[in-house]
Amino acid sequence: MQNFTFYNPTKILFGQGKTACCGEMTLPWGKRVLLLYGQGSVKKNGILGQVKNSLAAVGITWVELGGVRPNPVLSFVNTAIQRFRQEQLEAIVAVGGGSVIDTAKAIAAGVCYAGDVWDFFCGKAEVTAAVPITTVLTLAGTGSEMNGGAVITKEETQEKYNLRGEVLYPKVSILDPTNTFTVPRQHSMYGAVDAIVHVLEAYFNASDPHLPIQDRLIEGLLHTIMEAAKIIFEQPEHYEARANLMWCATLALNGLPTAGTGNTGFPMHLIEHSLSAMYDISHGAGLAIVAPAWMKYAEEIAPRKFAQFAQRIFGIDEGKERERALAGIQALEHWFATLQAPIRLAEANIPAADIPKIAENARRLAVVWDMPEYTCEVIESILKRAGT
Ligand code: NZQ
Ligand code: ZN
Repeated sequence: MQNFTFYNPTKILFGQGKTACCGEMTLPWGKRVLLLYGQGSVKKNGILGQVKNSLAAVGITWVELGGVRPNPVLSFVNTAIQRFRQEQLEAIVAVGGGSVIDTAKAIAAGVCYAGDVWDFFCGKAEVTAAVPITTVLTLAGTGSEMNGGAVITKEETQEKYNLRGEVLYPKVSILDPTNTFTVPRQHSMYGAVDAIVHVLEAYFNASDPHLPIQDRLIEGLLHTIMEAAKIIFEQPEHYEARANLMWCATLALNGLPTAGTGNTGFPMHLIEHSLSAMYDISHGAGLAIVAPAWMKYAEEIAPRKFAQFAQRIFGIDEGKERERALAGIQALEHWFATLQAPIRLAEANIPAADIPKIAENARRLAVVWDMPEYTCEVIESILKRAGT
């Protein structure tokens, strides 16, 4: 096991009815808040109304800012930073999925920084201060509600980069599974794919050959996410399935199951970020395309862990190590397809002829992430496996 520091200060309130606690939980952090949300789902399903009632009940006032779009963008962040300063606000209440929470984190860091907030994303500055954030999560998947990272796209350059910082962990996140009942099926499934790939990044990229606790935690998450997703696909208002998916997705990227796996890198995310930056597809959809392709590439180099995955997740025992490894990857790919997620570039209307320019875009991020082994040639060879 590798040495690690585990730090996670986010307070989680989990369960039906917890949205009503938002005001009380936010009060220690500020009395004038930015109330941030997306493109209107939280108005339609009534979650925003519940949040407002709970803020008003404890005397918190707010400036409302809707309009965060999926694959959130830097221009919105910059406008919101100005607004936050003009209104002399104290904290942010983010009501939404990963896009809203990530935007809240970028605003929170930008407000406390005199320079360009993009400096944090391209490694020119470190986040050392941020205003406090409370979240009311409405979509299970990214894990942003309990981590210190955020992903934003700079539109002009099609760079989808991330920032991180210990001060960016939400102070409180409210996880009420009923708040995810109205998530469209497609986005519920993409959330499941995202959570799966978060743990697979650590599972397949860990350098230690023997990680029994991490492997079993990850395998437990994988089984539970897959069971829950299948139920939600048919029954979107199944409370237990929504609850399981929500908590698994939070755990998948809060540092706990992966503590001890070392600094593993995120190659599947590295390549996916280019797809969602360049073609504005959902992150989970991009991962359903990239993950099996990357696994086919990585299995050729080191099949052992892929054979373990095949056996423990899909019960594949037959054949030689490489045959089992490949059968496991195909089983995962098939499973993504049964969720109606795209598994080939063409299914997301991405022409195979674009592979070199996608690789070039991903290569720039590989430089920022210090992953020199991901050359244009390597990235192209991975994407070609998703081409047909
Ligand atoms: O905008 P609204 O109207 O809210 O609609 C959203 C959006 O259209 C809708 N939705 C969310 N909750 C809903 C709902 N519709 C009905 N009922 C509800 N309860 O779902 C759509 C997608 O929302 P979005 O927030 O974009 O999805 P997600 O949570 O998957 O977030 C994706 C973003 O997070 C980043 C991704 O790259 C992407 O930009 N990620 C963030 C990470 C992090 N901070 O740790 C890690 C991830 O790897 C990922 O990169
Ligand atoms: Zn992800």
